[in-house]
Amino acid sequence: MGNVTMDKIVSLCKRRGFIFQSSEIYGGLNGAYDYGPMGVQLKNNIRDMWWKEMTQLHDSIVGLDASILMHPRVWEASGHVSNFTDPMVDCKQCKSRFRADQIDLNAPCPVCGTRGSFTTPRNFNLMFATHIGADVDAASTIYLRPETAQGIYVDFKNVVSSSRVKIPFGIAQVGKSFRNEITTKNFIFRSCEFEQMEMQFFCKPGTDEKWFPYWREQRMKFYVEKLGIVADHLRWHQHGPDELAFYAKDAYDIQFLFPMGWQELEGVHSRTDYDLTQHQKFSGKDQTYLDPETNERYIPYVVETSAGLTRNVLMAMSDAYEEQELEGGDTRTVLHFHPEIAPVTVAVLPLVKKDGLAEFANKLEHELREDFATDYDQSGAIGRRYRRQDEVGTPYCVTVDYDTLQDNTVTLRFRDSMEQERVAIPELANRIKKATKEYKRV
Ligand code: GAP
Repeated sequence: MGNVTMDKIVSLCKRRGFIFQSSEIYGGLNGAYDYGPMGVQLKNNIRDMWWKEMTQLHDSIVGLDASILMHPRVWEASGHVSNFTDPMVDCKQCKSRFRADQIDLNAPCPVCGTRGSFTTPRNFNLMFATHIGADVDAASTIYLRPETAQGIYVDFKNVVSSSRVKIPFGIAQVGKSFRNEITTKNFIFRSCEFEQMEMQFFCKPGTDEKWFPYWREQRMKFYVEKLGIVADHLRWHQHGPDELAFYAKDAYDIQFLFPMGWQELEGVHSRTDYDLTQHQKFSGKDQTYLDPETNERYIPYVVETSAGLTRNVLMAMSDAYEEQELEGGDTRTVLHFHPEIAPVTVAVLPLVKKDGLAEFANKLEHELREDFATDYDQSGAIGRRYRRQDEVGTPYCVTVDYDTLQDNTVTLRFRDSMEQERVAIPELANRIKKATKEYKRV
């Protein structure tokens, strides 16, 4: 990852259709991004891998898709109305806004250089408020959810009574969250609209001591073994007493070495019975769980794994990015995505357009669509077409040449090593699946 900078990632994302600034033709909207043809596929692939890992490969985890708009009392109960704030200051001279905990208030304004120009810090709630119904008044105020987790808590009893889950069990959810972030630099790292992949694991009080380290281990393994992230680019950070969120008994972040330095990627939080207890208090509805074996009744404890999906996309791009010097003075930009998250898995390229090669390649590409995300490219020199695929991280290129018409074989080119092998077309899909299964980042 030696030569990656945020500017290079931003430029590649725009150039190759991964990520665009929202509403760009109107000057852009800060903190909001659009995922282009490549970006949405990458994001969906990461989401699907997480979903499979959580709901399919682990015991006793079920899915949920709660609504973004919720009853406003939810956010009073959860503590977000009173506690989900950042201290904010404005420069009286240039009107720039900063988080008071991120700048030195005695120093000159970093934008206009004026000294002593900051307002006194005031707390700013990060929730976006809007109104439901025709009347715009305090009674109609609702919020765009700032985390997906609360949807899981308020449906806890619904899930228990409608499915056969028994504690310990988890509920997983992926969806949009919204925060009116004061500072939104560093591209999609911190945006106002983003996606989270969260899982709340409900367990008997006391057993959280066992499940908390278990989930920490599982989540780190996911990044290294499934997403194929370089292990040296990941580390743990335990929250100190001044960093702990208002709901947490203990918390660890998985940090990733982003182009701007080590930053949080995912939080694993021990949330005790805080949220369910609060919802019981505020809603007046029983939130206890009756253990069918011991007949004990209790409010479960929760271990939460909370990852940013859009932040995962930035990690995947940064981790994969490499500019390589090749023999002969040539360079290539290559994204070393794990084949399972690459937006395109196989590109089919006819060596030349004429003599029936294009038709043959086109037909082959259609056949491969059943198993893989494919692309077809017939324009330009073959070397340039390989570079184009390298730059979007396509792990396999299949080239159709004159020999193909004679012996029904193609050249299979591997992105990372650039090695090529001759494969019979009937073997091709299995060869690609095998290579994907055995993929190791070098
Ligand atoms: N339910 C707990 C919770 O939301 P959090 O640490 O505030 O905890 C969890 O957020 C994850 O969500 C973060 O680790 C990060 O990946 C992602 N996230 C939070 N705020 C974000 C933002 N403004 N933009 C992008 N991702 C964000």
